[in-house]
Amino acid sequence: MYVIEAIRARRSTRAFRPDPVERDKLTAILEAAARAPSWANSQPWETFVATGKTLARIKEGYLEKYASKTPPAPETPLPVAWTQAAKDRRNRLNEGMVRACGDAAKQFGALNQGMFNAPAVAYVCIDKVLSHWSLHDVGAYAQSLMLAACEKGLGTIAAITLALYPDVLHQEMHIPDNLKVTIGIAIGYIDKEHRINDFVSERAPFDETTHFFD
Ligand SMILES: Cc1cc2nc3c(=O)[nH]c(=O)nc-3n(C[C@H](O)[C@H](O)[C@H](O)COP(=O)(O)O)c2cc1C
Repeated sequence: MYVIEAIRARRSTRAFRPDPVERDKLTAILEAAARAPSWANSQPWETFVATGKTLARIKEGYLEKYASKTPPAPETPLPVAWTQAAKDRRNRLNEGMVRACGDAAKQFGALNQGMFNAPAVAYVCIDKVLSHWSLHDVGAYAQSLMLAACEKGLGTIAAITLALYPDVLHQEMHIPDNLKVTIGIAIGYIDKEHRINDFVSERAPFDETTHFFD
């Protein structure tokens, strides 16, 4: 698969088949992701991958948090403001999903809360002393991971909902206190029967986000 082909083929998967992902495939995509660029090759990422019983316990812990209406406490603060352009694009995302997926779009919240039924989630952490710059490195790592997964025939989604309750993650995976969870990336085989996966997100017109100066 060529790179631009993979970039265009990747999209967020919001419903996975329960089949486990082979360990060698997970290892291959995580090793590929670690080839991402980082400031001075600092490689700030430290990734905790939950599958099987561990992921089941995390899911249970999250469902308890949702049931008790515990306020989310992600270790990277949630955004406090959005530009109007960003708000408009978010609205278009919601409208587009309803158009493409019909009633399945109503399951958006439940699928998020149920961790998309993913058989594996990679939680990407960085040390708390690191600056915002290291999040650039994590972004590059995350996209590399998702593209590598795409080549292996796997779906992925980077989701903040997966990182809303870090206390559960620290406890279940023994994540040391000096690390913070930046994002969760669900990985697995795409449930092609689920209509939520029919959705293809749009992009802003090229000229709106890109400016050339000769
Ligand atoms: C940092 C980050 C957080 C995200 N959090 C969520 C989330 O919590 N739930 C969700 O359904 N999608 C989440 N997404 C997926 C975005 O909605 C998705 O990437 C965007 O709509 C573009 O669609 P595409 O990935 O299919 O191209 C997140 C993506 C990123 C990069």
